[in-house]
Amino acid sequence: MSAPERIPPRSVTTAELLAKGELKVRGRIREASNAVLFCSVTYEGRETSCVYKPVAGERPLWDFPDGNLAQREVAAYEVSEATGWGLVPTTVLRDGPYGEGMCQLWIEAAAESELLALVDAEEPEPGWKAIGFAEVGEGETALLVHADDERLRRLAVLDAVINNADRKGGHLLPADEGRLYGIDHGVTFNAENKLRTLLWGWAGEQLTPEAVDVLQGLREALNAGGGLAVKLAELITVVELDATRARVDAMLESGKHPEPSGEWPAIPWPPV
Ligand SMILES: Nc1ncnc2c1ncn2[C@@H]1O[C@H](COP(=O)(O)OP(=O)(O)O)[C@@H](O)[C@H]1O
Ligand SMILES: [Mg+2]
Repeated sequence: MSAPERIPPRSVTTAELLAKGELKVRGRIREASNAVLFCSVTYEGRETSCVYKPVAGERPLWDFPDGNLAQREVAAYEVSEATGWGLVPTTVLRDGPYGEGMCQLWIEAAAESELLALVDAEEPEPGWKAIGFAEVGEGETALLVHADDERLRRLAVLDAVINNADRKGGHLLPADEGRLYGIDHGVTFNAENKLRTLLWGWAGEQLTPEAVDVLQGLREALNAGGGLAVKLAELITVVELDATRARVDAMLESGKHPEPSGEWPAIPWPPV
């Protein structure tokens, strides 16, 4: 009798690990506004850390429908994957100890040069882009600036596509190997324009050729029957999906980074 065939261990992808692994809650992140649980997840010999945000722990918001912030976080990840820029840590929807929620790969923050600064000047220095003037107490203002960094510029495009209503400094996570991730995408994909971000430094400027290529790819993927459209249809409403297509089309048509609409506070407060 011949020896049974050895099946080589299949490599487990991060998405599989997060979706199928055993989830153990290790602690709660205190400063979060929703229930954000730090967890370990184990599957077929692989283990990692993640955050788990159960839908049941979502704080109701006046301007977003209840009970689906987790789905929006996954939708933001799917769009990021479709851009090829990998700006959002792997995020899945799954069941967990407190019910359905999102599970996202934990990113160990790496020390990095400053991405944001407040400066006592009228104009940013080279290498920086102006966000706007901010009150710094006693009637004094300072110029809020962000780095002129190509990773932030990509994130600005992603945020415009997903209509991110909360891109703060604390939601930018520099990681190893020069990577930069954006997190906290619960308030995205509203059908109305709610882009609220610090990354206004390129507002009104021409999109890079790379961004135009990426947006063209997104347009295809968002067509009815396109891979991304099928995924998003499970996560956001038809109206929100149509609005996402319209935002991509509008950017391709103008060829520019969007500017604040004026109908909505364009900069999150506090900015960090
Ligand atoms: N994937 C992640 N990797 C590392 N840290 C994270 C991750 N997700 C959240 N955090 C940390 O937890 C904090 C709260 O998470 P956040 O997504 O901002 O929650 P909330 O929806 O309550 O605002 C973040 O500011 C960050 O410090
Ligand atoms: Mg947050």
